[in-house]
Amino acid sequence: MRKPYIAANWKMNLDADAIDEFCAELSEFLLDFDAVRVGVFPPSLYLPQVVRALAGTGAVVGAQSCRPEASGAFTGEIAARMVADVGAKATLIGHSERRQIFGETDADVVARRDAALAEGLDVILCVGETLEEREAGRTNEVVIGQLEAALADLTPDVVRERVTLAYEPVWAIGTGKTATPDQAQEVHASIRARLAEGLGGEVASATIIQYGGSVKPDNVSELMACPDVDGALVGGASLQLESFVALLRGGQPGA
Ligand code: PGA
Repeated sequence: MRKPYIAANWKMNLDADAIDEFCAELSEFLLDFDAVRVGVFPPSLYLPQVVRALAGTGAVVGAQSCRPEASGAFTGEIAARMVADVGAKATLIGHSERRQIFGETDADVVARRDAALAEGLDVILCVGETLEEREAGRTNEVVIGQLEAALADLTPDVVRERVTLAYEPVWAIGTGKTATPDQAQEVHASIRARLAEGLGGEVASATIIQYGGSVKPDNVSELMACPDVDGALVGGASLQLESFVALLRGGQPGA
């Protein structure tokens, strides 16, 4: 059984006070809620604050991106080593905003992935097609291509123990347009089939595949009821505690 995993990707939002309040209330909520694994990915400036505030709750705290180099002349950037140094346990890699706004390529995804894993961080590897690619009938080709690149050279053990996948159709991110459960399930099933083919059935059935793109309290249950949708990576609806808690409740098995 895959334990559902719902992660908040705060992007470049919230501030120190709002984060303190959110984390205090989330810690309280998590005292008697264990049905879903929880992740929080704040702006990296606030990582130490969130690591401290959520210590002992079981929540995974991670960065939204990181540089692969351990140190050096990369003005404005944060190394995977630094993310681990402040006690965070994970990082997102290959989010479509990183790919589109910052020009990150599949090769950048692999370099960040390897640095993160070497530093002991778990990774959420993000893949997804643009609207243009979907309309051209290229969804599967694009998603599976990104997936193969992102997983290249990883052993089955590493994937099973350290890697979460996130399918995020670019046209659904921040647009209020969610993939239908059928659209999400179709892509998730093909990702899992590719995992089985490349890494074996055991890895395929153990790997969490999150869906991301306008997930909200009112659509999370139907999305996560799909057999191959195991969680959610949530931007906008993760910024308010009440809405995030509603997502966690709606994402628990049988909700
Ligand atoms: P959204 O963002 O929930 O605001 O659509 C999802 C994401 O980018 O991870």
